[in-house]
Amino acid sequence: MKLDLLSSGPSTLVTDLLVVFAADQNADKEKDAKPKIALLTNDETVRRAADRVVTSGEFKAAPNETSLLHAPQGLKAARLLLVGVGRAAKFSVHDLRKAAGTTVRFAKPRAVRSLAVVAPANFDIASTCRAIAEGAIVGDFESDTYRTDRTDQNIASASIIVPESDRAAAETGLREGIIVAESQNFARTLINEPANRMTPTILAQKAAEMAEEFGLRCDIYGTEKLRELKMGAFLGVAQGSDQPPALIVMTYEPANAPAEPVLGLVGKGITFDSGGLSLKPADSMEKMKYDMAGGAAMIAAMRAIAQLKPKVKIISIICATENMPSGNAQRPGDVQIAMSGKSIEVVNTDAEGRLVLADGLFYARQLGATHLIDAATLTGAVAIALGQVNAGVFSNDEPAYAHFVQALETSGEKFWRLPVEDDYRDQIQSAIADIRNTGLTRYGGATNAAMFLKEFVEDTPWVHLDIAALAWLDADKPWIAKGPSGVAVRSIIEWARSYATPNSHEK
Ligand code: BES
Ligand code: ZN
Ligand code: ZN
Repeated sequence: MKLDLLSSGPSTLVTDLLVVFAADQNADKEKDAKPKIALLTNDETVRRAADRVVTSGEFKAAPNETSLLHAPQGLKAARLLLVGVGRAAKFSVHDLRKAAGTTVRFAKPRAVRSLAVVAPANFDIASTCRAIAEGAIVGDFESDTYRTDRTDQNIASASIIVPESDRAAAETGLREGIIVAESQNFARTLINEPANRMTPTILAQKAAEMAEEFGLRCDIYGTEKLRELKMGAFLGVAQGSDQPPALIVMTYEPANAPAEPVLGLVGKGITFDSGGLSLKPADSMEKMKYDMAGGAAMIAAMRAIAQLKPKVKIISIICATENMPSGNAQRPGDVQIAMSGKSIEVVNTDAEGRLVLADGLFYARQLGATHLIDAATLTGAVAIALGQVNAGVFSNDEPAYAHFVQALETSGEKFWRLPVEDDYRDQIQSAIADIRNTGLTRYGGATNAAMFLKEFVEDTPWVHLDIAALAWLDADKPWIAKGPSGVAVRSIIEWARSYATPNSHEK
């Protein structure tokens, strides 16, 4: 799908589909009253063409509600689509992003090859174009790559109609939106690959190709180097698999960036999580190809960063391995010595994400990272705590967390903070080693995992994202396909950008 800007009048535009967003202007207190629908365009011809459906009461402008008109009167467009964004008073740029996704997903199966969207005037034009571009590109992704009966229904071109005077700012927003959303889809493509086609070696290759394309440095380390680095926690997980592990290290060092901060982006890259000897039951194992979603998110974020070029140094580390049972696999009760020197009692081999991240986070600090963020499909417990609406965020540092909250304002992603406080430390105390890799009880499982990571982060400012419940969508939504979601990619990009000079206000 090619995205561009247009400044012609919407009513004179020749296109398969003209798209106008619509809001309900009724105030909240009039909840039950008939919706007062406002089309988000000031083109009178378009308003007139939609008049009948708007006054009929058939279309309520509810979020992501659609209404399609053929041969709309007075318009050159073959069809006119109204897409609801909900109540005008609550309308945000994040609703607009979803509505743009809904537009593309509505249009694709209906033989639409070109469409044009009227940019609403509710927000600044850069944010508007960025949101529309992101929604459209994210909405365009499908996960049915291997179906031989796949009928490609791609939209060749989508245009955003903006006022001529806003073209420069619109262009900036559009460009950012394309970079960010294409990166999110890049993560989704990596996550979607089955484990037999996305081994640690292949994941490393994909990262290296991306790095080559966008001018990042990328080093790939194998078992020998992991031994040299004494990454006992990572190696303990990897030893059960016939597939060699890969430690992926990407560096972004713009010449104009200050020496500090150095951001460390660390991702869990378990290309398949069988549970190891603490084997998962079949229905829990079925989708465990997506246990590298945190690692994919970091590779994707680096892809966007390389293009957006913020003035800040960034290192990214992905610990890629399978977690398999075998004669060489680590056993429950084994003790491993992490790179930091801490001894770990591996009580449950299925709590492997925290083991690989322990060495990944510690190594990032050793390479000079002053601020850390990690993303991982780490615990089932985070889904119990937060459901499938919010992902979990944990932090040991208020300023780093504040940067993340700021990032969420731009990304529109939903994260909910959970505790990582020392009061929980006794949950990971081991009788035989420094720490154990599972909590003593089942309670607070997502926090117990975060507490484990904190042992290796120590006092370095750190944000931990547990995306287990949201990295895979089990059902289609109007604006996004089922399958890998690419959650966290946009927020990680914005978190990193928030540290760039000249915007950087704290260390
Ligand atoms: N990869 C899983 C977490 C997960 C669960 C991701 C469901 C996506 C969906 C992780 O490695 C795991 O198995 N965690 C265990 C930890 C337990 C043994 C303490 C879990 O959550 O059950
Ligand atoms: Zn596991
Ligand atoms: Zn896992």
